[in-house]
Parts: sequence; C-alpha cells; structure tokens
Amino acid sequence: MSLQDSRGVPSIFMPTVLALETSCDESAAAVLCQEGDSLTVLSHGIASQVEEHARWGGVVPEIASRRHVEALPNLVEQALEDSGVMASDLDAVAATVAPGLVGALMVGSITGRTLAALHQKPFLAVHHLEAHLASVFLASSPPRAPYIVLLVSGGHTELIRVDRSGEMVRLGRSHDDAAGEAFDKVARLIGLGYPGGPAIQSLAVHGDSKRFVLPKGRVSKPEGGFYPYDFSFSGLKTAMLRQVQMLESEPDDLPVADLAASFEQIVADVLVERSLRCCLDQGIDHLVMVGGVAANQRLRSQMQDEGQARGISVHIAPLAYCTDNAAMVAVAALRRLSSGVEASSLQLGVSARWPLEKSLSLYGSNPPF
Ligand code: KG4
Ligand code: ZN
Repeated sequence: MSLQDSRGVPSIFMPTVLALETSCDESAAAVLCQEGDSLTVLSHGIASQVEEHARWGGVVPEIASRRHVEALPNLVEQALEDSGVMASDLDAVAATVAPGLVGALMVGSITGRTLAALHQKPFLAVHHLEAHLASVFLASSPPRAPYIVLLVSGGHTELIRVDRSGEMVRLGRSHDDAAGEAFDKVARLIGLGYPGGPAIQSLAVHGDSKRFVLPKGRVSKPEGGFYPYDFSFSGLKTAMLRQVQMLESEPDDLPVADLAASFEQIVADVLVERSLRCCLDQGIDHLVMVGGVAANQRLRSQMQDEGQARGISVHIAPLAYCTDNAAMVAVAALRRLSSGVEASSLQLGVSARWPLEKSLSLYGSNPPF
C-alpha cells in the first residue's frame, strides 16, 4: 500500500503483508503493515488445535494437516476483513515453509502460493525460526544489533549472536530435548495435559520451587570442562522421573505443584544463567528472548530482573507473539522486503528441516526444495 501525494503519485511505500503459519498445531493468519520502522498488526487470528492433540498427549501430524485445511480459509478471510485491507491492496503474501511438520507446512505454503498467484502478488517463503526471531520487533522496545537471542521453543533451545551486519552465529544449543519439549514431557510425567508449559506454569504458582534439588544439565567437552552456552534437559527429565517414582512409593498424594515449581525454577535458572553468561562473555549488552517457552512468566521476570542487575537490557517478544502465530511470519517477510528481497519462487516446496543459516536460499530463483 502507498500513500499518495496531491498528484496521485505514491509518496511513502507502506508495505502490507498477509502471512500464514501452519508449521505445527496452530493455524494462523495475520495482516501487518510497515511504515518506516513502525509495524502495525492490522489483524491476527489463531485457530489452536491443542485441545484435540491433548487427547493423544502430543501433536498427531495427520490430524494437524487436516485441521489446517479446515481452519485456514476462514482465518484468511477473517484476517483480511478485520484488517480492512483488500487482497488486491496487499504487497505480498507470506507463509512458513520450514522447518516443521511437512503435511502441515504444505497447507500454509500451498494456500499462500495460490493466493499470491491469484492476486498477482509476490510470494515470500519464511523460515519458522526467523519468524520467531522477528517476533521481538513487535515489542515496545525492539533491540538494535548486535544482540544475543535466546530462542526457546518446543523444537529449539539456542543462543544466537546477531551481528550489526545481520549475520547470525549460533553459539549454543541443546544436545537433546528442547526446553519446551522438556516442559511437555515432564507435564505428562506428573499427570498434566498437553501443552505442558502452560499447565506447569499455572500449577507452579502454588508450589515450593526449592523443595526438590534438580540437575542443571551441563554438556561436557571431550577434552574436559563444559560447553558454556549449551543445554541438556534429558538428565533433568530422568531426575524428575526418579523423584516421581520415589514419591509414588509413599502413601501421600504426589506433590505435583512442588514438582512443577521446582522443575520450572531449574529450567528458568539454567536459561537465564547461560544467556547472561553468553552476553557478558561476548561483550554484548542486549539480550532477546523469543519462542513458546518465552511465554513463561517466571522465566520472563527472572530474565528481566537478573539482566537488569548485570547491566544487560532484555527484550522479550510480547506474550501474544511467543507461541506460534502469523504476525511474526509477517514481520519476518516485511524485514526481508526491506532488505531488498523481492519474492520466493512459486516452485518452492516445504522442508521438515532446514537450517536457519540457509534461510536466504528461500528467495533464490533455484528453490532448494
Ligand atoms: O514456539 P512454539 O509455539 O512452537 C514451536 O515452534 O516449538 O512453542 C511451543 C512450546 C511447547 O513446548 C509449550 O509447552 C511451550 O512452548 N510453552 C511454554 C509456555 N507456553 C508454551 N513453556 C513454558 N511456559 C509457558 N507458559
Ligand atoms: Zn514455533
């Protein structure tokens, strides 16, 4: 969309994007507009499937794809109607194409490419992790590079340095489960529903976070010592299992609130300590936190407080944009447009795994998948 001067000549280009997200168990559509550095969410809607997957204790890929097919047309129509933008006025259509569940990604990608072709708009493929990273630009005080990002979701736990040039360097990662996965598994272990993060959080409020002593999961280097910014949550999961087995042999009810609080606390401690350590060692005083687990209240406030105490400004994605959503996909697409990217090929498919470092390849004329 463009504003026009008195002669009808476009004066300010204000790109407007319709974005779709279907990489896992949330179908989402959003319309965003950018004016200079300012981003406006004109509309965003999410149709969550979690209740249906909760019956199975986790995401069932086949069900996810079918529900995306059912939900997406209405979400798109509603997003356009709520935004007051006509499809013909869009500047691009974007959709998540990797990584994620292939069948689920396919629904958003085909819908996005079809809409783009139908309305003769560029199609912009978006990497899901780039979208999570972009979600922080919807915060009231977005960061300026260089900064360290803690990307903490159901599939990833990573520390990434973003340089002034925009280059990203991964400094830390989980060697086994992602933090969100650990929340989901531990929740199941103590009899809570899926997704585990919100279930543990609401119970933990009533629990004693110091009752159980749990391990912080360090990753050893072959030559001795530890990787300072890497994570491991499998030992913590096992420690929780042992604790539960021991408690179950006692006559009292399982102290689920104390278990939830102790688990949540140790995960927050580990994430905060290693992220701030990384910032201090790298001499970078801005930390960004994004992804589904960044919705955790204990983690949010502990990161803010301890960051402040150590002179690091902490930028966290707004709560509404931590778990999967389409607004963050739109932000990633708008940032690509501002960087000079024009479009992705309509021949581009989807990929279950694709490294973030290779996300520029989504815009080449030779699609990588
Ligand atoms: O980013 P996301 O929606 O999907 C992925 O890309 O993985 O993250 C989902 C993960 C789930 O593991 C869920 O349990 C966790 O984020 N999560 C939370 C909270 N809300 C969602 N974990 C801890 N506390 C929360 N409040
Ligand atoms: Zn996600």
